[in-house]
Amino acid sequence: MRTDTGQVFKLEDYRPSDYLILRTRLTFRLSPEATMVKAELTVERRAGVAVDSPLILDGDGLALRRIEIDGVAVPTSAYDASPDCLALNALPSTPRFTLLIETQIDPAHNEALMGLYRSNNVYCTQCEAEGFRRITYFLDRPDILSVFTVRIEARRKEAPLLLSNGNPVESGDLADGWHYAVWEDPHPKPSYLFALVAGDLGKVGDSFTTMSGREVDLGIYVEHGKERLAGYAMDALKRSMKWDEEVFGREYDLDVFNIVAVSDFNMGAMENKGLNIFNDKYVLADEETATDADFANIEAIIAHEYFHNWTGNRITCRDWFQLCLKEGLTVYRDHEFSADQRSRGVKRIAEVRTLRAMQFPEDQGPLAHPVRPRRYREINNFYTATVYEKGSEVVRMIRTLLGAETFRAGMDLYFLRHDGDAATIEDFVQVFADVSGRDLSQFALWYNQAGTPNLTVSSHYDAAAKQLTLEIEQSVPPTPSESRKRLMHIPLAFGLVGKDGKDLLYDSVDGATVEGGVIQVRKRHHTVRFSGVAARPALSLNRGFSAPVTLSVEQKADDKFFLAGHDSDAFSRWQAFNTLLTDALIAAFRRLRGGKGTDFAARLGGLAGTIATNGDLEPAYRALALTLPSEADIAREIGKDIDPDAIFAAREALATFIASTNRQRFEVLYDSLRDNSQFSPDAESAGRRALRNVLLDYLSRLDGGAETAARHFKAAANMTDLAAALMVLAHRHPGSPQADAAIAAFAAKYASDPLVMDKWFQIQASVPGPQAVDTVRMLMTHPAFSSTNPNRLRSLIGTFSSGNQTGFHRADGAGYRFFAETVLEIEKRNPQVAARLATALRSWRSLEPARQAKAKEALLTMANTSNLSADLRDIIDRTLV
Ligand code: TRP
Ligand code: ZN
Repeated sequence: MRTDTGQVFKLEDYRPSDYLILRTRLTFRLSPEATMVKAELTVERRAGVAVDSPLILDGDGLALRRIEIDGVAVPTSAYDASPDCLALNALPSTPRFTLLIETQIDPAHNEALMGLYRSNNVYCTQCEAEGFRRITYFLDRPDILSVFTVRIEARRKEAPLLLSNGNPVESGDLADGWHYAVWEDPHPKPSYLFALVAGDLGKVGDSFTTMSGREVDLGIYVEHGKERLAGYAMDALKRSMKWDEEVFGREYDLDVFNIVAVSDFNMGAMENKGLNIFNDKYVLADEETATDADFANIEAIIAHEYFHNWTGNRITCRDWFQLCLKEGLTVYRDHEFSADQRSRGVKRIAEVRTLRAMQFPEDQGPLAHPVRPRRYREINNFYTATVYEKGSEVVRMIRTLLGAETFRAGMDLYFLRHDGDAATIEDFVQVFADVSGRDLSQFALWYNQAGTPNLTVSSHYDAAAKQLTLEIEQSVPPTPSESRKRLMHIPLAFGLVGKDGKDLLYDSVDGATVEGGVIQVRKRHHTVRFSGVAARPALSLNRGFSAPVTLSVEQKADDKFFLAGHDSDAFSRWQAFNTLLTDALIAAFRRLRGGKGTDFAARLGGLAGTIATNGDLEPAYRALALTLPSEADIAREIGKDIDPDAIFAAREALATFIASTNRQRFEVLYDSLRDNSQFSPDAESAGRRALRNVLLDYLSRLDGGAETAARHFKAAANMTDLAAALMVLAHRHPGSPQADAAIAAFAAKYASDPLVMDKWFQIQASVPGPQAVDTVRMLMTHPAFSSTNPNRLRSLIGTFSSGNQTGFHRADGAGYRFFAETVLEIEKRNPQVAARLATALRSWRSLEPARQAKAKEALLTMANTSNLSADLRDIIDRTLV
């Protein structure tokens, strides 16, 4: 484990390296505990660099076995080798030379899952961001682009399959049962895109003909016996390849494209050139083992990694501060792909829910950072919702400001101008400034300034003058190390909704630039006057979630109810209802804590019934509308002095009220949505299942609810329905015979399927209440649990800490103590996963004082532990600031 050195990396310190590595020839001789890695590097001194400049290569826990320059052993006086660094200080005076380095590594004991490691007896690699330096000494930074040739040698019995990046060029037998394969990747790439896989896996093959008529061999490699579970992923891959040609004009550029599914993986997946490596949870699916959400995730992540081929690989990042250059843009691209494959309106609502759940708390807490950070201690900790999701929103705003056509022209210019580059955010923004002729300098603040901007809007309609006036005020709350904020350029889409639900027209407008239904907010304060507005409209704001901001709008409840029933923009219509629900929940929370708040639940109950049964609305949309804001959503809206038990009680009460108000309607609809046809994972079928399962959740709260859910469980013909029923039984009827029977039956049936058991862990770890700590402790001893597998850890520990408000935030602090102890244990093996889990405490300052003190104690326990990894030290220190 790399312990913290306290070193801080700064954007302004960027400097090109003195040396380049033009070619990299790697030879692996694979053995579980003693793999030999030979690297032959063609090194070039950059023009103008002094001959005596040292070459300093990155390492991480390496053992050097041999070092030669131009075929001659380097004398020990000419270099300094430590596990973490190789410094060469007497180099040839010629501008170019060959450096040979041999290292020995131990994949079998690599539990951090970075570099070369073993997962289920398969050798695999993860090099982003700085894992390549755990394989060999290198200039392990994304602006060093090198042409790689890789030779892999292994025992044929142990590893009949040998894969690396690029195209296969040679393979054959060696003595003593060994064999080899050589792979060549013609595209210069940074070391973080290197990959190797070797093992015994089953293959699903297919092919794709590109728009220029080239045939590409496609392969998805999975554990033997699981081939039929890769069909959906393969289909998603082919649709992604086609879509990128049609929508962005991007064609694939190698003869083969391979995907490997591994079961031990720190993140979702990795875009290594020509050889994507996936967490198997995002490849394997069939109706019996995967939910509709799993299918949607697989489609999105297969697309995401494939799209990286252009946005990430052909054009990569100059340095890790530019991470959003590839991640934000690629998330934007996968969002658009899913929107085109599914329902655009529904997809947008889901995106915004994720952004608010994951990114808003980050932006509003101690870990806030700009989409392009300016400093970091551990880059692993910057693969965040801000870089990914807010980064995607920034790209979307560029499109909103420029329009679809100009945006596409900008993207075309980006590919043309920067293909083969290690580029920056400035490069990216410049192409859009060039194609549009606009000044995007204020807009670029979205990349550089942290915090969620707020827009306060009030409106006044003058009936006699037929004039609507909006007062818009922007503010950006302070974030750590940025106390004073600059004014942002915010595209605010809007509609003036008339009595018939249609948007009202206006003759003219002044006070801000308004084009294509978008107000461009650039100043602190705008008074925007619309003239010629025939009647008082209901104001629909931030349509389609045009900007990632919070809104404070003075609006009559009547207008919100009207918009919730009539806004022509699907997102805003959903938003109006969701705001009403949130308002009702906050009012109930305040009443529970002795305060006052108007109770309009009765009206909401009625509207919920109307939405549920409105056949003009897509079932998936109705399911989203009927899903109450989560406890975490409510806590975020309240903002401070959080008592999770009171929030839980308020939410339960509203849910039960909506259920009992609509009992009959919900029962009839629930029955009518029963589906006996052949399973299909398509969005429409999934939407009907989602609606039916939301209704089940409501009905399960009423008399006979446990029986209804138990019947649902028994009748379930797919994992979506089965997991939904199990969730409802475990959460609403804990300890009931029906719940206990379902939990046992599920485990008995799926004991040997780890990905399905993850759902079983998740459902139990999220059961609300103080018993959750003990439940999770007990489940950690279950045979299906594994403390080295990130998916298991996330299912159990991650769900408990981020998905169980009343359990984790137990008033006596036992949840926090258990958590700190567990994170410290995990850290010894896998610092990256431990640090990620530890972010669950980031909102500790918004808790009520007693819980706040207990959360702080847990944070201090971790902070006072010696020899913390850079990963965990960084998160804990920033969280405590
Ligand atoms: N680049 C990967 C993506 O597509 C992210 C990733 C995968 C990653 N594995 C990682 C980042 C390990 C850091 C460490 O989003
Ligand atoms: Zn990515």
